[in-house]
Amino acid sequence: MMLLDWISLFIRWFHVIAGVAWIGASFYFVWLDNNLDTPPDWKKKKGIKGDLWAVHGGGFYEVAKYEYGPEVIPEKLHWFKWEAYTTWISGFLLLGLVYYHGAAIYLIDTSVMDLTPGEAIARGLGIIFGGLFIYEAACRSPLGRYPKAFGIMFLILLAAASFLATHWFSGRGAFIHVGALIGTIMAGNVFFKIMPAQRLMVDAVTNKTEIDPSWGLGAKLRSVHNNYLTLPLLFIMISNHYAMTYQHEQAWLVLMAIGIVSAWIRHYFNLKHIGISRPSILITGFIGMFTIAYWVSMPTPAPVATVTSSTTEVVEAKPAALSPEQQAVFDVMQVHCANCHSAAPTDDIFVVAPLGVKYDSWAEIETKAALIHHRTVITKDMPMMNRTGMTEEERQIIARWFANKSK
Ligand code: HEC
Repeated sequence: MMLLDWISLFIRWFHVIAGVAWIGASFYFVWLDNNLDTPPDWKKKKGIKGDLWAVHGGGFYEVAKYEYGPEVIPEKLHWFKWEAYTTWISGFLLLGLVYYHGAAIYLIDTSVMDLTPGEAIARGLGIIFGGLFIYEAACRSPLGRYPKAFGIMFLILLAAASFLATHWFSGRGAFIHVGALIGTIMAGNVFFKIMPAQRLMVDAVTNKTEIDPSWGLGAKLRSVHNNYLTLPLLFIMISNHYAMTYQHEQAWLVLMAIGIVSAWIRHYFNLKHIGISRPSILITGFIGMFTIAYWVSMPTPAPVATVTSSTTEVVEAKPAALSPEQQAVFDVMQVHCANCHSAAPTDDIFVVAPLGVKYDSWAEIETKAALIHHRTVITKDMPMMNRTGMTEEERQIIARWFANKSK
């Protein structure tokens, strides 16, 4: 267990480092491209179409972007592809280690769907590679020539992936699969389109043949997709610390909403780089984020939008109506479970409610009754490692309550 934790730590660490390098380089080049100025005539004569000066880290830098390419390919040409590949490879290893090796713990939530590890893994890989296939096929089809229509199709693809994942897996498992699909599409864009286009360009310069502008344009489109996907993907990477997002009743909508709003905010920066300032995007983006936060933190996971008066009544009626038997269960669980399973856990290791499971109120206990019974009376693996020292009598309190309840 300890060894696996260390392996997981090192892979995760490496994954984050590689990801920082990839996204950092990609942000830098987007910024660079959008900030190029028209060069002076003497540079234009050399075939330079974009000129940029910067000062950083105690030195001046002069960057030139060529209209077509240099006369000869320099001996040392930097490609920036390993950042993408190593991020993907380490991410995939991590997914395998945490969510596939540990499928029973982290990927499968029997209250969502009772899957065997094999079934869950097959579905997970299906989402990632099925999604990649659809995306690649759409890019190569005539649809690829209409950016707006393509964007809508892409959104539907991601919504379908989120919907399926949240209806198959645990909340965290679902989010990470949408993240893995996005990351795979991004690395795929580098591998299937951007790199081949660049190789063609280098060959053309070397052989002194014409550069087909469509190579660059096709690669550019994929680059733009990657650019808008970065913020949603980064959100997913950190989301597993925030159970309120992935544990929501409509988690797939939460994910889509945050994804769309963050891509919208990215749009503000893309425009800003080319000198267009649209504060309205930033403002609506923040309003959107606050609206999502408000919606997600609304007390009961009631059916979206309309909270009817009848729902409110039921919620208010609960605390007062505890029978002695229910009160006993509630008390036992406050002592033995709520130090981890709470909105504010007091356990020194589990500082976030594990899997987003909270037992702070009776309503939360009532809805999870079957699962609580299963883990405390049947499998007895809860409390975890029996860290809170639950006795057999205390387990029987839950057993009796559940038996009476199910009569
Ligand atoms: C020391 C921390 C800790 C305590 C105390 C604890 N749990 Fe857990 N619980 C976890 C962790 C971590 C997980 C996620 C890993 C797993 O599923 O094994 C979990 C998962 C669960 C799950 C699975 C939820 C799901 O959606 O699959 C249930 C049910 C559960 N706990 C019930 C309980 C009950 C009931 C108690 C008290 C009798 C309890 N736990 C006490 C840490 C704890």
